[in-house]
Parts: sequence; C-alpha cells; structure tokens
Amino acid sequence: MPPKGRIVVTGATGTVGREVMQRLARQGAPAVAAVRNPGRARSTLGTVPTIRFDFEDPATYDETFRGAEKLFLVRPPAIAAVWQSIFPALRAAQAAGVQHVVLLSLLGAEENPFVPHRWIEWYLQSLDMDWTFLRPSFFMQNLSTTHRAEIRDRDEIFVPAGEGATSFIDARDVAAVGARVLTGAGHARRAYALTGAEALTYAEVARILSDVLGRPIGYHDPSLLDFVRRQLGQRPLGFVLVMAGIYLTAQLGLAARTTLDVERLLGRPPTTFRQFAEDYRSVWAPSSSGS
Ligand SMILES: NC(=O)c1ccc[n+]([C@@H]2O[C@H](COP(=O)([O-])OP(=O)(O)OC[C@H]3O[C@@H](n4cnc5c(N)ncnc54)[C@H](OP(=O)(O)O)[C@@H]3O)[C@@H](O)[C@H]2O)c1
Repeated sequence: MPPKGRIVVTGATGTVGREVMQRLARQGAPAVAAVRNPGRARSTLGTVPTIRFDFEDPATYDETFRGAEKLFLVRPPAIAAVWQSIFPALRAAQAAGVQHVVLLSLLGAEENPFVPHRWIEWYLQSLDMDWTFLRPSFFMQNLSTTHRAEIRDRDEIFVPAGEGATSFIDARDVAAVGARVLTGAGHARRAYALTGAEALTYAEVARILSDVLGRPIGYHDPSLLDFVRRQLGQRPLGFVLVMAGIYLTAQLGLAARTTLDVERLLGRPPTTFRQFAEDYRSVWAPSSSGS
C-alpha cells in the first residue's frame, strides 16, 4: 500500500538518493528530499520538495521527521562515527513516528562487523521500527564519478583489482529497488543483496568502454602503493584507504557474487555494464568538463 505519510529521502543529492527522489516524485509519492543545502540541491533536483537536514545538526531532526512515515537512509561516506550522528537521527525518527527505514547498506555487510553499514543495521534491528536493508555491490557509477577523469583524460582505468571480477550494479537499479520498497508492501524486515547479472574483471570493463567510446581504454593494475600514491594527490587519506580496501577485496575474488534479487524485485534483468556505458558515454568525452 502506498505510504499515507511523508517519505523522507536522505542523500538526495547523491548517486542513489537523487534517483530515488526523482522516481518517487514521478510516481506522485509524498516524498521530501532531506538535504544540507536546499538552495544548492535545487540545481541537482529541480522542483521537488526539500527540507534542510544535516545528520550532524540535531536541530534539523524534528522538523524533518514530523509527519513522516518512511525514511530512505543513506550513510554519507564521510560519516564513520555513525553512533554520533546517524543513531541520534534514527532515535528522532522513531520518536516522531516513522514506521519504516530503508537503509542503503553494502553487499556482504551481514558478514562484516567492521563496516559502519553493519553497525547501522544492528542499531535499526534494536529499534521499534520496520527496516529493509538494500545491500548493493560496487556501483558502475564509480567509473563515471571517482574514475571519470582518468578515463576521460588518460584513457585508462587505474585500480589495483588484479584479475578479480566485480558484480557491478547500476546505481539506477538500486534506486529503482529503493523506490519500489518505499512504496510497496511486503518488504519489512527483509534484506536484499543487489548485484548486476554478471561479474566483470576490470580488463573486461576496459574492453566494453573501448568499444562504446570508440577509442582504446587500458586497464592498468598498479601495486597498492602506486595506487595510494596517485590517489593521495586528489583525495583524503581515509577515502583512499577505503578505496584500496575495496579493490583488494575484488582482487581476492570476493566481489564477484551475483544474485537474482534485482530481477525478482523489478521484474526485469539488471542493467548491463554496456548499457550503463552507452547511457553515460558523454561524461568520458575528452572535451567534457567536471572532475
Ligand atoms: N559507491 C559504491 O560502489 C557503493 C556500493 C555499495 C554501497 N555504497 C554506500 O552508499 C552510500 C553512499 O551513497 P551514494 O553514493 O548514493 O551517495 P553520494 O553520491 O556519496 O552522496 C552522499 C550524499 O550524502 C549527503 N550528505 C553528506 N553529508 C551529509 C550530512 N552531514 N547530513 C546529511 N546529508 C549528508 C550528500 O549531500 P550534500 O549535497 O549536502 O553533500 C549527498 O547527498 C555509502 O554509505 C556507501 O558506502 C556505495
């Protein structure tokens, strides 16, 4: 049954949340984008309803959750101390009467007590609200955001993933599942493992990109040290170490698991990497701007 109360969408200017918000708006669902800077968010989101919300500013909690029934919860990558700024927000959501939290978690979180996503899952299970955990694999969009510049400017993918395969998922599929779970019934207290239909090595990814972009894109498999060295010029140490950990996991063959959950939930196969590359082709065009 569609929710009667509001759906609060966090991370609504980000990769997944933006798509969730736009899908809900198109469906006419009573959704509001909870964003740190509503003025700036308008340039990303257009005219959807927004409210000022900051996990790190508890003064924004009450107004955000008043009258809300569901919450799409994205843990911002920069927030590691989730007990400081995510747990208090969840307590405020519960106190305001939110009934169901849909968490953007991480593939394999159930087996990994070291990731903040797992700590949030545990915390949600201890509260008196329904929950659904979306546990996606590695987003295809990492190649159109984090690795965009190296592909566009140097025609290369520079990650230490060896010959390990990854079951890449299109973040748009994750968002489609999110919107479906937020507006449909039967998802309470369930966890979904969301992956693409196939696992690809980075050499295979480079071949598909070469094909679609019409110019050779190479895969360079640097040592961990060379990778960290190059990334440190561009990103903070914490982020670089998380990236290194992710590629090491792929190198060890631990990122290749595929599931049927996306197809079951959406009634269609997951988006292929080739389709993703075709849809995003312009971001890697040598003349395009952006980081
Ligand atoms: N990338 C992957 O391959 C992958 C795979 C599986 C799971 N995940 C998980 O997905 C989550 C990230 O999702 P995403 O990639 O869609 O997000 P994203 O593109 O990284 O965007 C982060 C969002 O969080 C918002 N934000 C940052 N700090 C905030 C704060 N203090 N209070 C409120 N909002 C804040 C940002 O808003 P502003 O516009 O205000 O900055 C932005 O909307 C992470 O937990 C990540 O671990 C990622």
